[in-house]
Amino acid sequence: MKKLIFATNNKHKVEEVRAALDGIVEIVTLAEAGLSGEIPETADTLQGNALQKAQWVWERTHTDCFADDTGLEVDALGGAPGVYSARYAGEHCSFDDNINKLLAALDGQSNRKADFRTVICLIEGGETHYFEGRVDGQILTERHSNGEGFGYDPIFMPDRFAVSFAEMPLNVKNTISHRGLAVKKLAEYLK
Ligand code: IMP
Repeated sequence: MKKLIFATNNKHKVEEVRAALDGIVEIVTLAEAGLSGEIPETADTLQGNALQKAQWVWERTHTDCFADDTGLEVDALGGAPGVYSARYAGEHCSFDDNINKLLAALDGQSNRKADFRTVICLIEGGETHYFEGRVDGQILTERHSNGEGFGYDPIFMPDRFAVSFAEMPLNVKNTISHRGLAVKKLAEYLK
């Protein structure tokens, strides 16, 4: 089976993407590839960051690899935090800090519309390919969680569902989520 290094240190993402690409491609983690360290993500677009992260692996291994970058785009905040979603509450902030800041920014706001957008950059034989996924939904006024998911999941409820991403089993989140849809396009390309 084809092997691809996934340029992330986020174990939740590895779990999600492994489940989605099961039987199609073998996902190799950075640790398994013998790589360590912070991967830079200093671009000002999701596409730029995905490219930067995938290039970081390609330059060190010359092995086919991919990276994803995700942003939460909130309508009432003009698309913020967007590409800055990971560091919304500061440089070394936690998921909880980010959620608290977002709930405060939307306090009293009736427009709760938001979307998650993921861009995947695949580097295959030195050539780059991009795949994008998006899911629309609402920012909840408080956390709803069964302990599933990560990041902003406890406060994001996708359209046509009555639960947050953090209340959904992984296989359900994967069928509708931003990253799930982007990975599906990647899988179709690889098949
Ligand atoms: P990145 O793709 O790791 O740069 O993600 C940017 C930010 O979005 C991080 O704070 C993540 O926690 C958050 N994020 C990425 N994917 C998801 C998701 O599937 N659910 C909730 N938050 C996410």
